Amino acid sequence: MHDKILILDFGSQVTQLIARRIRDSHVYSEIHPYDVDEAFIRDFAPKGIILSGGPNSVTEGGSPRAPQAVFDLGVPVLGICYGMQTMAEQLGGKVVLGNVREFGYAEVRAHNHTSFLNGIEDFQTAEGHGMLKVWMSHGDKVSDMPVGFKLMASTPACPIAAMADDERHFYGLQWHPEVTHTVQGRAMLDRFVLELCGARPDWEMGHYVDEAVEKIRAQVGDEHVILGLSGGVDSSVAAALLHRAIGAQLTCVFVDHGLLRLNEAEQVMTTFADHLGVKVIHVDASEVFLSKLAGVTDPEAKRKIIGAEFVEVFQTEANKLKDAKWLAQGTIYPDVIESAGKGKKGHTIKSHHNVGGLPETLNLKLLEPLRELFKDEVRELGVKLGLPPAMVYRHPFPGPGLGVRILGEVKREFADLLRHADAIFIETLRNTFDKESGKSWYELTSQAFAVFLPVKSVGVMGDGRTYEYVVALRAVQTLDFMTAQWAHLPHELLGHVSNRIINEVRGINRVVYDISGKPPATIEWE
Ligand code: XMP
Repeated sequence: MHDKILILDFGSQVTQLIARRIRDSHVYSEIHPYDVDEAFIRDFAPKGIILSGGPNSVTEGGSPRAPQAVFDLGVPVLGICYGMQTMAEQLGGKVVLGNVREFGYAEVRAHNHTSFLNGIEDFQTAEGHGMLKVWMSHGDKVSDMPVGFKLMASTPACPIAAMADDERHFYGLQWHPEVTHTVQGRAMLDRFVLELCGARPDWEMGHYVDEAVEKIRAQVGDEHVILGLSGGVDSSVAAALLHRAIGAQLTCVFVDHGLLRLNEAEQVMTTFADHLGVKVIHVDASEVFLSKLAGVTDPEAKRKIIGAEFVEVFQTEANKLKDAKWLAQGTIYPDVIESAGKGKKGHTIKSHHNVGGLPETLNLKLLEPLRELFKDEVRELGVKLGLPPAMVYRHPFPGPGLGVRILGEVKREFADLLRHADAIFIETLRNTFDKESGKSWYELTSQAFAVFLPVKSVGVMGDGRTYEYVVALRAVQTLDFMTAQWAHLPHELLGHVSNRIINEVRGINRVVYDISGKPPATIEWE
């Protein structure tokens, strides 16, 4: 059993970061909605509780409150932003509507000596006051602390910027320690979790392998499991983990829709079937997919066709495996949190994922071996399981594949041209290093790919005039894929890629670079 920190989510955009930071310090933490019942909190047996920020105002009637059990359990509690405000209100203090919003960078002055901030500071003023550089985002503020609390920090705009009750180990911060702009954020969370809660830092992917293997074995027994392997990170790591746990009881079905990247199908088969010895059924369904897509130009219609056909092909294969009792999926923790946040309790299926809808129709039990893990943990686990780092750290690739990167109608001829151009772009990104950071441009971008434009433009080659297709290059940098900026790739790199594509890919005579941010553009072109 790991020591656990419970994070109650009041709806902040950055709640997930709290859990990630704590897990970075090797302590297991989970996020649950603020309105879980008291019995759940007691059964969870946390070593400490964190109340997240949120968009509401404590001063509004009916705004969210923490369950009373949070304060009765006798464990340390940390309220962040809204979490601090509701803590103040619930324990007998007062919160007022702010007339000035404080948003962004702030310098707060630490007061009195509290075990929370003791020894943590960024600099000292001439008068010798300890100062902290933090990130704030709030309108309301605590105007009266509850009995038992003392002032921990302040700013001119927010006289009670942090408060502490060292007897009960209740702490409130108006700033966000979970964002990296709060310079000592890591030290603050470590102080709370490791020292004040006394949680054991035993959450580590190297050890997690054994724990997960045992859990899977206990759950599955001697029954058989099917997994849809796509070549993406999540399904690949799930396959490697299940294989480690149950070996030959696992059968992977790899549906090749003909819209994969260059040599991708071969790479999947080499890694899993040849190297790891996983049982993989490779279904080459490209003919069927392409024939269903013929004449279809609308992006959503293409997605629906690809998704439905995927289910069809997968189901046909799964039905052949008479012994299978389980369907495994690469659901990861953010999928679980997001669907719980939307009020859908229980098991979840990636909404955009191709295998959505399979469990009911196949009558299989659902197995989700990665549902406790964040993406970085999934990657770390993949490496521990012996998957090639290049596969584990690959940029994300959409389920419908090149189907949404060939604008308009999808044809095999277009897919072949695009695969070739895309491979040149990616190879160049991998082989070109930024002098300052020493990292490759592949590492410095979050997602990069080529897009096929079904328009012809005029060119000259040798003595002749050409009339051929256009390829657009897209490279973005982002943390969450919700917003993204176009990557400022070096001009020499772009020039090199353009030359190679035009010289090597017959049928392309023009290359353009996409300089649109998201929003308003999306990352994919369709
Ligand atoms: P957009 O284009 O919406 O993409 O800015 C955000 C991220 O989602 C990926 N994406 C998809 N992934 N099926 C998927 O599995 C899809 O239909 C799909 N559409 C977009 C996209 O590659 C990017 O990482």
